[in-house]
Amino acid sequence: MEDDIIYRKLRLILIGFGVIGQSLTKLLLSKSADLYNIYGIKPRIVACIDNKGAAISSSGLDLERLLNIKKSKGTVARYSDKKVAMNSLEIIENTEAEIVLELTPTNLENAEPGLSHLISAMRSGKHIITANKGPLSLALPSLLELADYNGIMFRFSGTVGGGTPILEYAKHCLKGDRIISFRGILNGTTNYILSKMETGLDFKQALSDAQKNGYAEAKPSLDVDGYDAAAKLVIMANWIMGMKVTMKNVNMFGISKITLDDINKAKNKKCAIKLIASCENKVLEVKPIEIDINDPICVDGTLNAVKFTLEHAGEQTIIGKGAGGIETASAVLRDMIEIRDNIINKI
Ligand code: HSE
Repeated sequence: MEDDIIYRKLRLILIGFGVIGQSLTKLLLSKSADLYNIYGIKPRIVACIDNKGAAISSSGLDLERLLNIKKSKGTVARYSDKKVAMNSLEIIENTEAEIVLELTPTNLENAEPGLSHLISAMRSGKHIITANKGPLSLALPSLLELADYNGIMFRFSGTVGGGTPILEYAKHCLKGDRIISFRGILNGTTNYILSKMETGLDFKQALSDAQKNGYAEAKPSLDVDGYDAAAKLVIMANWIMGMKVTMKNVNMFGISKITLDDINKAKNKKCAIKLIASCENKVLEVKPIEIDINDPICVDGTLNAVKFTLEHAGEQTIIGKGAGGIETASAVLRDMIEIRDNIINKI
């Protein structure tokens, strides 16, 4: 019985209840039987914080109610009549939980509030899962050291490739070999725009189309000027290649100057222009490049694709959807299962 409690206990603090946070909550609800029967876990959200307040319950919040309150009242703060007086940092420090899920929106300027949440979680000895690219792209080397120092597990699969396990593939599936370099498409929005331009739409029309379909970042410049792809490249370079780099180490060019004429010239050479992020000879670059249409990374729409060049096994490409609420939530869930397995193996 005692073992049962230890093995299945998984208390979560969820910070950020936007598209990814709500998608994760829906996944926890719809997959609760599988999580218990297949993975032996019964996650409970003991605190949920959005930009207007928080809901807390040490025995676990009712997830249906949490989603309904957010939908009807616009904030989880209305979950209970009694207002939670603590701010997000106080909740992280004072609530008993195994894992902090940091799912607030990406801020590539100063990484806040995500960065403070991560530091606070590390200092209070809680494991972390995040899908927030801001803190990682600006301070991943120091965050990895801090996680090590505090003896906590720090996972961020959903920051690159949405639900496509690009980070895990490179980190865990290629053991014994060595990645010499990699290159690929890491931003779905620009790929969508460039793909639409191939059909004759001009840049402005294609961007507005991407915004309408909900792929684009709130500030379009983050996608079209290459910042989002550069942030993901930095995360990959640190995590996969062991480099200690941040955004300022990336040579970055966006796609805003690409014209229909450029696209057609590439087409005549049986190529397509793609915004390619690359790590070659330890040089990090994001720039539009003509890619042969038969190259496996020449994918269309919002797809992401990364080709790894390995010392022994040659070239390998991983392709999948690079964005989306439920897709990214599935990566968060994957990280959760991995952390839980590691906790059990340590007991
Ligand atoms: N704006 C990003 C993209 C979202 O288009 O890839 C996923 O990080």
